[in-house]
Amino acid sequence: MTTIAENWGVHEAQFWLRGEFPADPVGFEPATGAWNVYGHAEALQTLSDPKVFSSDTARLIPKEMSPKKDQFIEGNLLQMDPPDHKKLRTLVSHAFTPKVVADLEPRIATLTNELLDAVDGADSMELVTHLAYPLPVIVIAELLGIPASDRDLFKEWVDTLLRNSQQRSLTEQTEEDRKAAEETQEQLNNLVGYLGEHVEDRRKNPREDLLTKLVEAEVDGTKLTQNEVVNFANVLLLAGHITTTMLLGNTVLCLDSHPDEYRRVREDRSLLPATIEESLRFLSPFALVARATTTEVELGGQKIPADSMLFTWVAAANRDPRTFTDPGKFDPARKHNPHLAFGRGIHFCIGAPLARLEGKTALNILLDRFPDLRTDPAVPPSFIPSPHMTGVNGLQLLLKP
Ligand code: HEM
Repeated sequence: MTTIAENWGVHEAQFWLRGEFPADPVGFEPATGAWNVYGHAEALQTLSDPKVFSSDTARLIPKEMSPKKDQFIEGNLLQMDPPDHKKLRTLVSHAFTPKVVADLEPRIATLTNELLDAVDGADSMELVTHLAYPLPVIVIAELLGIPASDRDLFKEWVDTLLRNSQQRSLTEQTEEDRKAAEETQEQLNNLVGYLGEHVEDRRKNPREDLLTKLVEAEVDGTKLTQNEVVNFANVLLLAGHITTTMLLGNTVLCLDSHPDEYRRVREDRSLLPATIEESLRFLSPFALVARATTTEVELGGQKIPADSMLFTWVAAANRDPRTFTDPGKFDPARKHNPHLAFGRGIHFCIGAPLARLEGKTALNILLDRFPDLRTDPAVPPSFIPSPHMTGVNGLQLLLKP
């Protein structure tokens, strides 16, 4: 059977999607000046030991490549190490509790139904435009308390960020790299400026929303600064929607490509959560996370110097044949699925419960409303054009028998 990667144009750098796995689970890449980690055990090691594998990777990026990088770091959990990380994560967890997420289920269902009403009676729909993009972005915007009607604005900013998200050298900067860095900076400024105005407003006019909770949250007498609230909200807004958009599209594509599994999950919806986990393993939305070594360390038989940039390719680790039986097979019934799609350790995705809930709720409704749902063979799916992401960004579906 041909694989999804062979059938459709996934990014050429993502060799693990074509059933390839490198002989060395860890290797240095002269073109980027960084180390790549592909093996599952090795990836786990980098995610589990923040003392040696620090998340403060910005310090290794030359200032001229990202002149205002410091401005976006404060409050960005993804870039923080203990003890500051723990403090902020605890604070944020007070605002972003399991109950806050669980209570969203009826709203997610209503939104899904409203979005699908727009294509009721139609012969076909494009999944990303009609459901997979708007649903998570409306949910996260409503949760934060920013107008969901501004979502076209976020889309414009985020699309530019994704376009500029390519593997780049840490040692040499081309004209293209410089332009990309400038554009990225401009879009981040837009996002941060926009969120800053809303945060300012919540200080004066508190509301029942996450931005207000973040402004008010307090641990040991400490509150978040303006910059911390804005940057954290920015991470939530970005991480909170593009990844879930990919999860929804990828899962539909996986099911469509595997008719037996599709039929089984249609008939028995209790299989949906395991199907979503397998989709996360099989087509992992966030392909890599970055770390910076603080000391010389041995990893996967290689000696890595201190102050090295490390790319841990969780998407490749999720296809490691040493950990997963038959890794190239989409098998929602697999017994052992310790995938790393949400990371591991102290930075484990804070939004995982929300992504899982959105996935389960939306897919259940989609399957209920369109029993004949399948991809349109005349319009191939397209993927986000970045080696750092694996995600459908266009998926044309036929709705009628
Ligand atoms: C962290 C993936 C959805 C917010 C992470 C990490 C991964 C990840 C791999 C770990 C990064 C690292 O170790 O450096 C995903 C995937 C998602 C998803 C695949 C959907 C399928 C979400 C959602 C939100 C979110 C819906 C917010 C509402 C965050 C935040 C962190 C994070 C704030 C940082 C946590 C920390 O550093 O302590 N995510 N994510 N993510 N994610 Fe997600």
